[in-house]
Formats: sequence, structure tokens, C-alpha cells
Amino acid sequence: KRIAVFASGSGTNLQTLLGWFPHKDPRATITLVISNKKDAYALERARTAGVEAVYIPWKKNGREEFEQQAQQLMQEKGIDLVVLAGFMRISSDDFVNAWRGRIINIHPSLLPDFPGLHPQQQALDAGVERSGCTVHFVDTVLDGGDPILQKAVPVLPEDTAETLAARIQPAEHEAYPQAVRLWLSGLAFPVPTLQEGAKEFG
Ligand code: GRF
Repeated sequence: KRIAVFASGSGTNLQTLLGWFPHKDPRATITLVISNKKDAYALERARTAGVEAVYIPWKKNGREEFEQQAQQLMQEKGIDLVVLAGFMRISSDDFVNAWRGRIINIHPSLLPDFPGLHPQQQALDAGVERSGCTVHFVDTVLDGGDPILQKAVPVLPEDTAETLAARIQPAEHEAYPQAVRLWLSGLAFPVPTLQEGAKEFG
């Protein structure tokens, strides 16, 4: 299978995935890395690994243009799975629906708790004793798609958003390849909607 990773930033999750696919699991290859940031370090990591790295600008009100270009490129490359790894933009409903069941994201909280921005700070503000990360299917609700895998870490009394983020990060690096491997094995799939279920079961 061919994977496209979308990343806006440093790309530590991308780096981990590059180490896994195809080297530790030959069922999939990271074929393409796309960023909306020209200077994202993720692009550099992809190039160093010999993977095609493409910057596609996301201008103001330019989501449609970005998604069109990304779609075309992914079609050309025969992409099977879209992996969002620190991609700090919200995809359109059309894009998400076109990739339903084949687009996943990682979020640094135990969803459904603390979706959206600054989840580590949200966890501290809520006073929870544990947080973690969630790999989930992307659907049209922000951070709201079906979960695939979660990993928990403790929240300590002296934590700041930074120290908590630093504790969650290694959990992300374990969870993301593991979730992709579940998907490759056919063990991760979004729950069908009631209508789809009705069709499927007559
Ligand atoms: C991760 O914390 C991820 O959960 C969030 O953005 C961050 C990306 O980190 N959505 P990196 O670019 O993979 O280092």
C-alpha cells in the first residue's frame, strides 16, 4: 500500500513512520509527503529519506485549490492511505468523504476529551490525572472520527503544557505506526453509518 503523509511542522511522527514503512513493515511505503508550509522540517525529513516531498501552498480561502492539487498528485501516485501528522489545517467535507476509511489523524489527547487546539493545556485546566494520544479516522467533525488506538500517559501535578506534550510525544510515536499496521491488516475501519449498515445487511 502507498501512504501519503500530510505535515505542517517538525514531523517527528513522520520520521517514525518513515522508519517503519517499508523498512520494518513492507506492506506499505511512505510514497509522498505533502506540506502546506514551504519551510516545514517534515519536508526536509522526507527528502533525506529519499521520499518525494511536495509543498502545496494553502492560501487564504485557498482550501479548494490546495485539495485539488493534493488530490491530483495522490491519484497520480496511487495513494491508498492519507496520514495526517501534525497537519494544522481542516479538510473540507468533500475531501474527507472522498477518503472515508482511508484518512487518519493523530491527536495529543484521549478523545473525545480535548479536541481542537492546545489539548495539553486543556487537560491541565481540566485537572485530569491522565491524558495521552488518539489515532482516529478523520470525518467531518473536527477530531471526531472513530478512534483506532489510544495510548495513555500520566499527568503530573507539576506538569506544564510543554512537559505533558513531551510525555505524550513518545506515546504518539508508538501509537501511529501501530494504528497504520492495524489498518493494513484490515483491523481498523470506521463504523458504518446506520444507512450504510442497513444496506450492507439488507
Ligand atoms: C503532534 O503532537 C500531533 O499529535 C499533533 O501535532 C503534533 C505534530 O508533531 N496533531 P510532529 O510534527 O509529528 O513532530
